[in-house]
Parts: sequence; C-alpha cells; structure tokens
Amino acid sequence: MLIRFYDVTKVYPSGATGLFSVNTFIRQGEFVFLVGPSGAGKTTFLKLLTRELIPTRGQVLLKGRNITRLRPNEVPYLRRSVRMIFQDYKLLPNKTVRDNVAFALLVTEKPRKQILPLVKEALQLVGLESKAMMHPGELSGGEQQRVSIARAIVGNPTILLADEPTGNLDMETSWDIMEVLLRINKRGTTVIMSTHNALIVDGLRRRVIELDKGRIIRDDERGIYEGEAERDAVLPG
Ligand SMILES: Nc1ncnc2c1ncn2[C@@H]1O[C@H](COP(=O)(O)OP(=O)(O)OP(=O)(O)O)[C@@H](O)[C@H]1O
Ligand SMILES: [Mg+2]
Repeated sequence: MLIRFYDVTKVYPSGATGLFSVNTFIRQGEFVFLVGPSGAGKTTFLKLLTRELIPTRGQVLLKGRNITRLRPNEVPYLRRSVRMIFQDYKLLPNKTVRDNVAFALLVTEKPRKQILPLVKEALQLVGLESKAMMHPGELSGGEQQRVSIARAIVGNPTILLADEPTGNLDMETSWDIMEVLLRINKRGTTVIMSTHNALIVDGLRRRVIELDKGRIIRDDERGIYEGEAERDAVLPG
C-alpha cells in the first residue's frame, strides 16, 4: 500500500480541527479527487503527506513507513518523492521557465549536465518546450500552471499532490491542465487532487474522497462531485 492514514487527527494550535479520525488508503498509480466544502480539511490532508503538518494523533504511512517519525535528514527525500502544486503556481518571477523547473533539481546532488535533459523532458511532457526561456510573467495562467507541474514532476516523484490546481483557470484551460495531470498519472505517478470543480470530477469519474468538517463522509471508486447545488436540485419542491 502506497499511502495509509491510520486514525489521523490534526488539531491546529488555534483549536481548529483540520482532520478528525481519518482512516483511508491509496494505492500506487491511483488518481484521487478530494472534495468537500471550504474548511473541510482537503489542504490539511495534502500537507500531512508532505510533512508540512504533523498529525496530532494517528499515523500517516508512506510505503509502510510512518512519515511523522522521519529523522530530519530523511525529510528532503520525502519531499523529493511527494511533490505538491498549488492554485497560485508559486513560480520564481525572476527566473526563466527552464530555471524554475531546474531549481528543484539544483538542490539535489545531481550533476548539472544531467539536469538539462531532465528539464527538457519535463517541459515536453507539459507541452511547454518552446517557452523555456521566457519568464512566468510572460505566460498565461494555464501556462504558468504547466510550469509548476513540470517543476513538480521533473525528478519523477512517486506522488503528485495538487491543491485546487485549476482554481484560477477558466474551464477550457482547466481541461488542458487535467489532460497533463492524467498523462502524468498514466506514467505511474499517483495523483491526489483537491478541487471545487464539479464539471471536472463528474467528467472524469475517478475515485472521489469527500471530506466534511475533517471527516471522510464518502469514498467512491468512480465518483461524482455531488456538491450542494446538485443535492438541492434533486430535492422536491
Ligand atoms: N494554519 C492553520 N491554522 C489554524 N487553522 C487552520 C490552519 N489551516 C487550516 N485551518 C483550519 O482547519 C480546517 C480545515 O482547513 P483546510 O485548509 O484543510 O480546508 P480545505 O478543505 O482545504 O478548504 P478550502 O476549500 O477553503 O481550501 C478549517 O477549519 C481551517 O480554518
Ligand atoms: Mg484548501
């Protein structure tokens, strides 16, 4: 089993509950949507996997290892195999596309001459090879998100976490991004994506885990979004 949450509770110092007694597992190669209203715990779930957060109670297991117990010198290895992308891309504005993608590898021990071919391959995979020498400010939102995906997958991570990756994009561009994420998933990377986009979830029919107030309230193998609007719509009267 790639990922296992065992009775995971996260209470923030403020007293807010991020997750409450969550039990679930995710297999290698899965594509999972995390849905639920604002504050449900989606980002908390993802951050527990990068060890940005440590559970208050319970265990987060990655390939059978409790990642909350990692020694400090093991955390960089975790962060290389579990990568995250965000709604707002978080690119370095003063660096070229190529250098933004290469940056993730420069902090590893890889020899520089091995880095460029890997960067090229990652940019090819997201369809941005021709923009390698441009700066983020010269790109559209969709293109910037592709750069952030290239940066995340350049070292061939085991897991890609995507926190509302299409949150700032129009529908057409969102579908382009989904195509890229599905391509990456097909190559073998496990993808977990939080989203509020019902059209995407309903269009793809992948596994859907729904959170509410920190608890898993639904886990469907080929799920739909089933947002409030839809539930209201089927109510009589
Ligand atoms: N850094 C923090 N400090 C204190 N409370 C937090 C923090 N981050 C999240 N929370 C609280 O934890 C709960 C879950 O938040 P989380 O960000 O995981 O929700 P979410 O499902 O990602 O929401 P959204 O759809 O708005 O992104 C909320 O009640 C939130 O206020
Ligand atoms: Mg969130």
